[in-house]
Amino acid sequence: MKFTTLNNGVQMPLLGFGVYQMRDLKQCQEAVLGAFETGYRMVDTAAAYENEVAVGAAIRESGLARNDMFITTKLWVQDAGYDKARSAFMRSLERLNLDYLDLYLIHQPYSDVHGAWRAMEELYDEGLIKSIGVSNFAPDRLTDLATFNRIKPAVNQVEMHPFFQQAQNVEFMQGMNVQPQSWASFAEGKNGFFSNPVLASLARTYNRSVAQVVLRWLIQRNVVVIPKSVNLPRIQENFSIFDFSLSDADMVEISRLDTGKTLFTEHSDPERIRTVGTKIFIT
Ligand SMILES: NC(=O)c1ccc[n+]([C@@H]2O[C@H](COP(=O)([O-])OP(=O)(O)OC[C@H]3O[C@@H](n4cnc5c(N)ncnc54)[C@H](OP(=O)(O)O)[C@@H]3O)[C@@H](O)[C@H]2O)c1
Repeated sequence: MKFTTLNNGVQMPLLGFGVYQMRDLKQCQEAVLGAFETGYRMVDTAAAYENEVAVGAAIRESGLARNDMFITTKLWVQDAGYDKARSAFMRSLERLNLDYLDLYLIHQPYSDVHGAWRAMEELYDEGLIKSIGVSNFAPDRLTDLATFNRIKPAVNQVEMHPFFQQAQNVEFMQGMNVQPQSWASFAEGKNGFFSNPVLASLARTYNRSVAQVVLRWLIQRNVVVIPKSVNLPRIQENFSIFDFSLSDADMVEISRLDTGKTLFTEHSDPERIRTVGTKIFIT
């Protein structure tokens, strides 16, 4: 495994395992266990995925040492604010059956994120979280949070894949020493992702899969990846990305696939803020 060093000195694996849309808790537990057995040590969940309990069960079942793992979860919008954030964090910790978290992220840039951040800073000071960060924060929101608080976010997890590369945003984050992390590295398969002719041709050149080529492209940009799969051979395939590298010319070839447009949601869209921001998940 390769690591990146966060702005507080913490070592974060460059590759982890995402568990979004694994609502079947048995399937989630099995997938996470399969990931641990494959060699993954980082898992990315969220209160809003409603599967922290299954991740916690897989952590226990794996028998791995806690300090060999890197566990991330996220605070949902309903729990933004100083008081609510602390108790939401405690409930996540309980569901995961852990006594500390490696990374806690504000899931969406909505509602009282400054109040939530102050609670997270205190939890960090108390040693209950090793690093704190955000998700889906555009440069203006990230700058606002970083400027008016004591601790700068360590990570910003955003949509990033060949069709939406966010090159300027990545450069901005790296300039601020905030670690970029990609969600939907495979665009969740949208837009003919796995059969894209450019990606398929590169996959043939390197005798790898499209998934492996894209994960490699991201980690070569020093972006942390967390591919999701419930299929063990794919979980294993996605892990096998540290024994080859893409040439500079092929990195450029992939950069030409960028459309500059989200395939999912525009986080600054008022309608999205009204609908997604008011969704209630596990409490
Ligand atoms: N912060 C946020 O707002 C946010 C939003 C979305 C996601 N995330 C995080 O990012 C993680 C990854 O994103 P994602 O789950 O949305 O999507 P993704 O990783 O881009 O794509 C997952 C899809 O690709 C398929 N797949 C996985 N490996 C494959 C392979 N080697 N070959 C062919 N198909 C493959 C999976 O199917 P099978 O499962 O059937 O293999 C699944 O349908 C999430 O799990 C979550 O942890 C965060």
